[in-house]
Amino acid sequence: MNWWEETVFYEIYMPSFNDSNQDGIGDFRGITGKIDYLKELGIGGIWLTPYYPSPKVDNGYDISDYFSIDPIYGNWEDFNLFIKKAHDANIRVIVDLVVNHTSDEHTWFIESRSSHNNPKRDWYIWRKQPNNWESFFGGSAWTLDENTKAYYYHSFSEKQVDLNWTHSEVKQAIFEVIDFWIDKGIDGFRLDVINNLSTSCSFKDNPYDEEGKQIHLNDVNQPGILEAIKSIEEHVKKRNSSLFTVGEISSDRLDLIEQYAGPDLLDVTFNFNFGSLEKLDIDEMFLQLKQMKETYQENRYPTLFFGSHDMPRFWNRLASKDLRVYQLLAALLLTSRGVPFIYYGDELGTGDFVPHSLEEIKDIQAINRYHDEKNKNKTDQAALLEANKVNRDRSRASIQWWDKKQDHSWIGFAKKNPDEKQIFQWFKQLLALRKKYYRAIYDYQILNKENDLIYYQLGKVVVLLNFGKKTKLDNKWGNLDMLLSNGKVQVSNEQIIITDKTTWIGKVRV
Ligand code: GLC
Ligand code: CA
Repeated sequence: MNWWEETVFYEIYMPSFNDSNQDGIGDFRGITGKIDYLKELGIGGIWLTPYYPSPKVDNGYDISDYFSIDPIYGNWEDFNLFIKKAHDANIRVIVDLVVNHTSDEHTWFIESRSSHNNPKRDWYIWRKQPNNWESFFGGSAWTLDENTKAYYYHSFSEKQVDLNWTHSEVKQAIFEVIDFWIDKGIDGFRLDVINNLSTSCSFKDNPYDEEGKQIHLNDVNQPGILEAIKSIEEHVKKRNSSLFTVGEISSDRLDLIEQYAGPDLLDVTFNFNFGSLEKLDIDEMFLQLKQMKETYQENRYPTLFFGSHDMPRFWNRLASKDLRVYQLLAALLLTSRGVPFIYYGDELGTGDFVPHSLEEIKDIQAINRYHDEKNKNKTDQAALLEANKVNRDRSRASIQWWDKKQDHSWIGFAKKNPDEKQIFQWFKQLLALRKKYYRAIYDYQILNKENDLIYYQLGKVVVLLNFGKKTKLDNKWGNLDMLLSNGKVQVSNEQIIITDKTTWIGKVRV
């Protein structure tokens, strides 16, 4: 079995996790200082968001040098120590591979834009005239470069320039990046917006939906994309077949997401069909669970997550600050079939951070939205409200790890949960339980829902998640031993009575 099939990952948003030298920015020494904490929690893998040198237009997802560490996060000694300490604690480390685009300050792009006949000209995508493609951060995806009077393509900000994946030298250059980090001892990669790679030279306009919103049809999932991903995967696995790859596929359609994983393709992909719902919807969640059960069989797995640096905290978004709902969701995250990812602070019930003015906003997506709204003659207050709706800063604030007042954070401090100790214990117990009773190979024997009670059985473990009122369920299992619960549950041979908003996990007695 692959190690990652049994691993619970923990995403660390680099600048915000733990700051060791009080300059307001998280760093490698800070993470190393938290290895014991992560070990106690029980995670087995860390996903690090980008820590490479970057002008930080998109907080590191705009890389200007693939072969270094940004000095604000530490030096090589700090990095090596972190990897060693993590490995000593049996925690693996995967790093973010952002190869759809580079920063416009990357030397490759500086060369490319310098003249029409620069050898790196075609490493990026240049056109005399733009088409209608829109950037995912708003506005046209094309920017005119005065120097050579041509437009370059950027699916995100104009300072994140898309690489031309039809060019063999680009591929080779990225393979060198991959090799470099493998040599540094990392255990795998998280591939950023990997279905966005420009793998075709066709620039057909995108269509619009009825509301006039652009449908991203021709700029993503282009012809050639699977071959490109296969070649990355082949390169990684040739180096070491135990290296893990997880791809970010920008879609909430399971059929599409799943095309990118499988033999010769990515190990797993992020399932935006499930964890990124905008609000709690038990019916929809159950439907998606069912579809995931159908889609992922034998040695294929979905990923499970309710948080990331791109979505609001699930304490607010899904649990509406209800501790018991939060506990139910945590149980779902950590007991269902798939590869779970905890986002830093989830284990403490961290809530959304909300900026109160344009000056406080760091996220480029929100800043762009603010200006769009202002251009529509909205007031500052109204623009701020709209900007905060898409503001990814909400989940990116620093954790205040100790009581002594820390007065400095590059962004601000995350909202502390008054029940953080209890929530931490809950996560810890769930992780321990998963480790003890679950083997990822187990399939659902049962996956069902009655009213707002979702229940399932994996192996010998039975999980009852009652999101609704007190309810009854026929006992299909006979003798059950309780493993973990946070409420009153009466189990008799005929039926199970479970109080409202209660989690109950048990084991079939044999
Ligand atoms: C991914 C990252 C996001 C970033 C974007 C562009 O979606 O998760 O934070 O803005 O890629 O790199
Ligand atoms: Ca620091």
